[in-house]
Amino acid sequence: VAKSTLKTPVVDIHTHLYPPFYIDLLKARTEIPYVRAFPPDNQIRLVNRAADNGRPMVPHFFDVKTKIAFMDHHNIDISVLSLGNPWLDFLPSDTAGQVAQEINDSTNSMCAEYPGRLYFFAALPLSAPPSVVFGEIARLKTVPYARGIVLGTSGLGHGLDDPTLIPIFKALVDASLPIFLHPHYGLPASVYGPHGKEYGQVMPLALGFPMETTIALACLILSGCFTVVPDLQIIASHSGGTLPFLAGRIESCIQHDRLLDSKGKINNPTRKTVWDVLKNNIYLDGVIYDKIGLQTATATSGVDRIMFGTDHPFFPPLDGGVEWPSMTVNLKAAKKTYEREEDYNLVMGGNAVRVLNLR
Ligand code: URA
Ligand code: ZN
Repeated sequence: VAKSTLKTPVVDIHTHLYPPFYIDLLKARTEIPYVRAFPPDNQIRLVNRAADNGRPMVPHFFDVKTKIAFMDHHNIDISVLSLGNPWLDFLPSDTAGQVAQEINDSTNSMCAEYPGRLYFFAALPLSAPPSVVFGEIARLKTVPYARGIVLGTSGLGHGLDDPTLIPIFKALVDASLPIFLHPHYGLPASVYGPHGKEYGQVMPLALGFPMETTIALACLILSGCFTVVPDLQIIASHSGGTLPFLAGRIESCIQHDRLLDSKGKINNPTRKTVWDVLKNNIYLDGVIYDKIGLQTATATSGVDRIMFGTDHPFFPPLDGGVEWPSMTVNLKAAKKTYEREEDYNLVMGGNAVRVLNLR
């Protein structure tokens, strides 16, 4: 078949699924995160963040058939699933390793039910002893549908610029597992002002999440992590938060910083600038809902580093319909942004197929 007649698959790299095993785990909990009904309402709800009063735990969250139906309805050929936040961050140290294996194996089995349509970013038992974390990374090399790992911004509990993470990053590079970086913790509610709560989830989701991702990436860059682990690859949620837009300002603040200067960290030839990292280490998802955001992401990282996503099943249609704006709005933004068919195809799936080896 001539190359031009081969259709590039549409790939969704930002799409969550909580395996039933994980839901059961949350049902047994009384502290956030948990899953329970709020009588007199029988509908069970997922409460995964303190600022949120929960969302109906409908099959879109845990049922692989519903995920496939969502994909079919919206012409998504391939999804790269990730466990939703807060992943395994809250687990006690002694059970995290076993739970991670079960979650990753059950997700892999779901992928195996739909060969070629589903892959996944695995969850790591970050609260477990280091040997358990390294053991799971090594094991993932043999888990057929695992294509990377999902990571929150807290890392091992001390942020992503925690030096203890460096060996883990190196192990991930050696295992060819990129990191899908996703927010969860947001910003303190006080930053939204005394009226913040009147605006529902807009402040934490539209501003808190992207700033959290931006801060995590800035910490990583400032720590010099990309000098020590030059091949580290990160797929950043929500088009990198605001990192593409703020790259110039972050660089300027670095250039003007007396403390960094006194430590010889500014003109050090091994320093990786924000621009370097955006071009060589960071992929940006397309979950930014507008041409302006996509253009900024593309200008900083290049069209070969942007990957389409939906954030399904968060942001369901308020009218209860089958058309998900989180799909259609991101798709429309991509159509408007990438006028060249080649570019559009890269973003809609070509990049994900190449980078994540989805064959
Ligand atoms: N809210 C969440 O808790 N997670 C998401 O991914 C999106 C919205
Ligand atoms: Zn998400």
